[in-house]
Amino acid sequence: MFLPSDFPGIKPGYAYLDSASTSLTPSVVLDAMDTYYKEYRASTHRGMYDSAVRATKSFEEVRKKVANFIDAQESEIIFTSGSTSAAQLLIATLEHNLDLQEEDEILVTELDHHATLVPLQQLAKRKKMILKVVPVNNDLQIEESVFKNFLNEKTKVVSLIHGSNVVGTILNVGELIKIAREKTNAFIIVDAAQTVGHIPVSFSNFDADALFFSGHKMCGPTGVGALILAEKWVRTFVPPYGGGGTVHSVSREKTIFLENTKKFEAGTPPIAEVIGLGVAIDYIQKNTLPEITEYTQEIFQYLIESLSKIPFVHIYSAQKNVGVLSFVIPGVHPHDVAHILGEEKVAVRSGFQCAELVSRKISENGVVRVSVYGYTIKEDIDALVRALQIVGETFSL
Ligand code: ALA
Repeated sequence: MFLPSDFPGIKPGYAYLDSASTSLTPSVVLDAMDTYYKEYRASTHRGMYDSAVRATKSFEEVRKKVANFIDAQESEIIFTSGSTSAAQLLIATLEHNLDLQEEDEILVTELDHHATLVPLQQLAKRKKMILKVVPVNNDLQIEESVFKNFLNEKTKVVSLIHGSNVVGTILNVGELIKIAREKTNAFIIVDAAQTVGHIPVSFSNFDADALFFSGHKMCGPTGVGALILAEKWVRTFVPPYGGGGTVHSVSREKTIFLENTKKFEAGTPPIAEVIGLGVAIDYIQKNTLPEITEYTQEIFQYLIESLSKIPFVHIYSAQKNVGVLSFVIPGVHPHDVAHILGEEKVAVRSGFQCAELVSRKISENGVVRVSVYGYTIKEDIDALVRALQIVGETFSL
């Protein structure tokens, strides 16, 4: 587990149970960003003076760290401002580079986050393609046999979310991709925003074409993430956006783009944030990912047991879980519940969780979501239980 004292965001009497929205940040990450701003603030890949060289070196070291952390090649890492921008960049790239025809199909799952669902839905509209949605079963899982039946030779893009940000489902992405590869030539995207830094993620084992995640859900700062694009696509795809840092040469007539991932990183990158992300990875590795995963599972079990004792709370949580559950109190709006919990200094998220398909399937007004991480302690869960008793009293449940 993490040491709660490493996190300045953890305050006495305040239970932070909203890590799936954004995790808290350890001081080491804040210090590294502060040092960049105070000691070597300069742009990367442009200057030849000391601070610029140091900034470029620190920035590029993180590319290696990310590659090593998620078992990808350094030449496959594209820095973005987060998962959503990674998904937008990727989907715009696909639109520019793939042969997408009318009536071709895009496959998403009911667990997909709006980060992929919305741009893929818009892509489908522009190209007159068909968007199909694989439903979750009663155990909040995607069944392999059901998924298989949605695939055919017209499937051009498949989107899979590795960990659900609503009910915590961990999809067996490796197996689902194997099935998709047997039946289609589709481009396969994995949204790993909820799993990187929480459970092991291996890009090469998944055999996906692209994967993305955010720094802010894994102890890093906001405003940074990475898109991992398989090397064959890095070499062959033309970037959808141009700008400084992406080109080999520019004349009045034409632009020749670089051949590496930098062709996808137009403009000044989030330098301090990338450096902070690198330190977040170091911090997770120091505390060891297996220990964080194990601890998170233990505290999550305590959460389930504690909530199960409250009769008016209906829990929606997948068995194989990344540390996220949702609940509903029949007859009480999720925002009212979250409001009372907030007044009791218990932080949760309510509503549709940027994943409206599965949230609305659970309840038409959405859900209350509780999420834990390696710094959550039993006292946080106990505070939630006490606050829920006040909800019960308020609504005479
Ligand atoms: N994806 C973030 C969440 O689940 C914003 O809350």
